Amino acid sequence: PPVSLIGAPTDIGAGKRGAGLGPDALRIAGLPEALRARGIDLEDIGNLAGPANPWQKPVDGFRHLAEVVAWNREVYEASTDVLERGRMPILLGGDHCLAIGSIGAVARHCQRIGKKLRILWLDAHADFNTHEETPSGNIHGMPVACLCGIGPRELTELSGPSPAIRVDAVRQIGIRSVDAGEKRLVKQHGLEVYDMRYIDELGMKNVMLQAFEGLDADTHLHVSFDVDFLDPSIAPGVGTTVPGGPNYREAQLVMEMIADTGLMGSLDIMELNPLLDKRNRTGKVAVDLVESLFGKSTLMRD
Ligand code: ARG
Ligand code: MN
Ligand code: MN
Ligand code: MN
Repeated sequence: PPVSLIGAPTDIGAGKRGAGLGPDALRIAGLPEALRARGIDLEDIGNLAGPANPWQKPVDGFRHLAEVVAWNREVYEASTDVLERGRMPILLGGDHCLAIGSIGAVARHCQRIGKKLRILWLDAHADFNTHEETPSGNIHGMPVACLCGIGPRELTELSGPSPAIRVDAVRQIGIRSVDAGEKRLVKQHGLEVYDMRYIDELGMKNVMLQAFEGLDADTHLHVSFDVDFLDPSIAPGVGTTVPGGPNYREAQLVMEMIADTGLMGSLDIMELNPLLDKRNRTGKVAVDLVESLFGKSTLMRD
């Protein structure tokens, strides 16, 4: 399908500055050219505008709640517009709090057209914190909870009065850092988490087959790719590195297997922080992996 890039240049939900430069770092790493080279009809709608980062301490367990709401409204509107024009949105983050807007838009779109939704959350973190459990107040640690209806009303009702998604729509892959209180919530709500130990024991191929269980032609697959999913040895350019992540080969297999389903309908590429990177190498790794996500392979179906 035709694809639209949406830039959301903000670090409003993060604990370090710099993810706001992610959209341009991805463009400079060659993302538009790489997608066009795959024969994709690509439009870049440019960067959204939103409030500056006031860099405040948490208030009631949230940093920058009002600004996070404003940015997510922009992302929600832009993503909805792209979906309604029959195109696939790719959100260029920006920090991961913006998945509230992007997935909110996708979830409502699926509800309108009667499609099922499966979300693959590729991340080192579960992002399932609440204002009570959060150790930081950074809202990029809370989007999955908010989408499931757990969080402040301004965020849980951003896309409509009922929760945007059900917990059982989500499969989390690559997880290796979950805060103590967050762990309790993950278990309590039955979130399906394939953590690094599970990946090591089963192997990435089997994990992906499990993540795909129950998919059919009526399913919209949303991929939320937090670049810190990757091992820091190949992806140092993120604000919250955690050792022990998927290596290049495992990550590439993840992307290839998603491409093979033919079901991906939307994508977020989040948390890239070129200020922490070396010569944009993490941006280039992300672009390579997105090429695999769009079907690039060594020998078959070039
Ligand atoms: N769990 C930590 C927190 O809540 C880190 C969250 C990191 N999230 C991310 N999207 N990089 O502060
Ligand atoms: Mn607007
Ligand atoms: Mn994340
Ligand atoms: Mn993360």
